[in-house]
Amino acid sequence: MNDKIQLLNSKIAEAKLGGGEKRIESQHSKGKLTARERIELLFDKGSFEEIGMLVQHRSTNFGLDKQKFLGDGVITGYGKVNGRIVYAFSQDFTVLGGSLAEAHAEKICKVMDLAMKNGAPVIGLNDSGGARIQEGVVSLGGYADIFYRNTLASGVIPQLSAIMGPCAGGAVYSPALTDFILMVENTSYMFVTGPNVVKTVTNEDVTSEELGGADTHAQKSGVTHFACENEIAALDHVKQLLSYMPSNCEEEAPKVAYTAGDESRLKLNDIIPDNPNQPYDIREVISGTVDSDTFLEVHKDYAENIVVGFARLAGRSIGVVANQPAVLAGVLDVNSSKKGARFVRFCDCFNIPLLVFEDVPGFLPGTDQEWNAIITNGAKLLYAFSEATVPRVTVITRKAYGGAYDVMNSKHIGADMNFAWPTAEIAVMGAKGAAEIIFKKEISEAADSDAKWKEKEQEYAELFANPYNAAARGYIDEVIRPDQTRQKLIRAFEMLENKVVNLPKKKHGNIPL
Ligand code: HXC
Repeated sequence: MNDKIQLLNSKIAEAKLGGGEKRIESQHSKGKLTARERIELLFDKGSFEEIGMLVQHRSTNFGLDKQKFLGDGVITGYGKVNGRIVYAFSQDFTVLGGSLAEAHAEKICKVMDLAMKNGAPVIGLNDSGGARIQEGVVSLGGYADIFYRNTLASGVIPQLSAIMGPCAGGAVYSPALTDFILMVENTSYMFVTGPNVVKTVTNEDVTSEELGGADTHAQKSGVTHFACENEIAALDHVKQLLSYMPSNCEEEAPKVAYTAGDESRLKLNDIIPDNPNQPYDIREVISGTVDSDTFLEVHKDYAENIVVGFARLAGRSIGVVANQPAVLAGVLDVNSSKKGARFVRFCDCFNIPLLVFEDVPGFLPGTDQEWNAIITNGAKLLYAFSEATVPRVTVITRKAYGGAYDVMNSKHIGADMNFAWPTAEIAVMGAKGAAEIIFKKEISEAADSDAKWKEKEQEYAELFANPYNAAARGYIDEVIRPDQTRQKLIRAFEMLENKVVNLPKKKHGNIPL
């Protein structure tokens, strides 16, 4: 018996060593943690149970018969994160560059299947040279097996991908199919084709970092939702994100204990500038309204004219979508529409109520926007809100102009409660442009056309640049003082807690992709 236990112990020790001490040192020297260290940091202390530690690859090509590693380059299993069951895989770059082959893929699929059956999130810690070249098409099949599961799991369980090293070629599509991507600055990159291929095909000189580093994907492409300073910060972000989500689409997100107190927030009364064209930071409105220090911004550096993120209100998880007047006056454009729509759909999948702060002058005009399909992309946000069945509440802080008024969670597309601050301006367009169009003749025929234009602009503003026409129609449920916002929202979301909406029976809708 002792011999057998010794054999087991030596196998466990061998598996834990991954690709060996030298390769672990090399991993550390690049400023990276090992797959096992990451697992330790992610899970509650001592809670991780490994599955498939002794799995080995079956290929014998190109010397793979001599070079076998227990675990085949990926650690898979389950454990607890903040007390809740979570499944994970962590690719081990010290073993054949974390490359994905048949057995490696089977291990990942096994935990994904378990996660689906048991309704718990899957976290992927990616650090891989891609398809294991020696295994050929079997590696590609392994990837596709994962992609298929990612797609089936979408909307059923949360899937998060942390990119901790290389992620290239078709390998990028598994993270892309998941709900959130986090990248580590300077040590991770994602691209479909690397700098060498780019040089050959397009003659562009570009580094891996410029082409697909964390900052590139956080700011330019929007592929990653978070660019984290280091691996520890990335894993902390994963845990924080999970805390706002339920384990699956049948559950509610966990509530945090909360004691009601004085909910008025006088500071909110001083945020909107007297000049309607002056910008302000909508984040002040968000953080001034939600439970203190609970706002976790998502996609912070991408399409900054819209702000999205998770927060808590009276201890309950909510998703916040807000126009940002401090960037491009808060207009909706192609990227902000896509960003907003994606976030709305995530919240709706996982029963997270939506709070919208609206200050939007309309859609961004111009050839760039039209040729990049602002029509199709704007429709994504419209579709996402219209389809969402979670509790939905809007607060119009200032401008709500044109089609953007309809799109930003208006009553007409199914919002439950719509509030407006007294500073709200709800109209087809701004007073200046409106006066120019409808009083064109009078202005041009006037002796002093500038004075006439100003007079008509003033007339239009008095009639329409307020929330009261909309309130008179019932499009706005209540005009509230900013300091009352928090109290009103807490009560509104409590009132909506048991909301049930049955959409028309269909296979699935056809969102304008
Ligand atoms: C097998 C691989 C490998 C791979 C790396 N290794 N990638 N083995 N298949 N895809 C091995 C290396 O041989 C090496 O083994 C060890 O991992 C570490 O690699 P290094 O090159 O020494 O590390 P580094 O200098 O950090 O460079 C990392 C790297 C580079 C940039 C990822 O290894 C690389 O370019 N690899 C190939 C990437 C690639 O083209 N993959 C296929 C993409 S196509 P030793 O024994 O020397 O330590 C793809 C299609 C997926 O993935 C399609 C899905 C639909």
